[in-house]
Amino acid sequence: MDVEEAVRQKYGKAALRAVACDGGCSCGSNVLTGIAQAGRASHEIYDAGDTTGIPAAAIAASLGCGNPAALAQLKEGETVLDLGSGGGIDVFVSARRVGPGGKAYGLDMTDEMLALACENQRQAGIDNVEFLKGRIESIPLPDSSVDVVISNCVLNLSTDKSQVLREAFRVLKPGGRFAVSDVVLCGEIPSLVCGNPQLWTGCLAGAMQEEEYKAGLIEAGFVEPAIEPTRIFQASDVREFLSTVGEDAIALAGELDGKVMSAAVRAAKPAAGGATSMKGHAMPKIQILGTGCARCKQLTANTEKAVQGLGIQAEIEKVTEIKEILKFQILMTPGLAINGKVKSAGRVPDPAEIREMLLEEGGN
Ligand SMILES: C[S@@+](CC[C@H](N)C(=O)[O-])C[C@H]1O[C@@H](n2cnc3c(N)ncnc32)[C@H](O)[C@@H]1O
Repeated sequence: MDVEEAVRQKYGKAALRAVACDGGCSCGSNVLTGIAQAGRASHEIYDAGDTTGIPAAAIAASLGCGNPAALAQLKEGETVLDLGSGGGIDVFVSARRVGPGGKAYGLDMTDEMLALACENQRQAGIDNVEFLKGRIESIPLPDSSVDVVISNCVLNLSTDKSQVLREAFRVLKPGGRFAVSDVVLCGEIPSLVCGNPQLWTGCLAGAMQEEEYKAGLIEAGFVEPAIEPTRIFQASDVREFLSTVGEDAIALAGELDGKVMSAAVRAAKPAAGGATSMKGHAMPKIQILGTGCARCKQLTANTEKAVQGLGIQAEIEKVTEIKEILKFQILMTPGLAINGKVKSAGRVPDPAEIREMLLEEGGN
């Protein structure tokens, strides 16, 4: 069985369990489906105010690792898409936040989850929600059609994460936001873990390293990728999860201590009019032209901030010899050159302006 089919079967069963207990017993919430439920049921992440009015079955079916609708800072009237919406909890929370003038789509590939989500919608009588059947690697929505893409503990399950990020970028409107809760790795994990299908469907083995996630977002065209831990799993949490897999797996718990986290992953699609991305461009070469004065130091600091904000790798060189500076034909220092082109001279642009200069280079 391939990994995607294993994921579909596992979450199909989880949906049936949630239907069987209908939120009225504790069996649905106590079964440990993935690492995110170690030590705490997923629905406990939400504030009581978020889940008021949401059917008990949707709450009990919650299998996420965060609260992406809160992370996204949704506004009235916005259109939101939840990738891998499961029983629908984040779609319902989003629908309430965007109000009747907005809309929340949920996308899932598992029939049993979609049936559960639609039944939950019927019971809750929420109108501004639509559940779609499909794969997150091939989103059934047009280009530039949503303001925000959210997701809760799903991207780690995909076998083609680059394609998911490209699809999220495609469906977002210019200036749109990517606000996702996901399991992310923050240290090397044993290769035995990576190859285990049960650990993949339990949201561990398929998780990306932090830097890999950011690089994937930039490669897809996003800017300002940021990843913040919301919970770092300790050996005891990992052991609880691994005990559902078997004795051999439990032995790996110590090696995973502090290396797996639930994280808030954010990025933005550049606004219209600006350069679209630095996608496909080699690492920019930035040169700070000046003899080491205080303003040169400020320019270096601003440049480093701009580079960090974009989440890109860049080579920053200080050109301090007068003879070398003169080759750039500037009359006043400090100067800033990107990929050999002079972008400013005799002044210190702020990080936001340098960011635009970098995007201009990347988008040309
Ligand atoms: C861990 S559960 C999370 C569900 C929901 N986001 C929540 O927080 O309760 C993962 C969900 O993603 C769906 N899923 C996993 N991989 C998918 C893919 N490639 N395309 C569409 N749905 C997927 C599964 O069917 C399941 O409903």
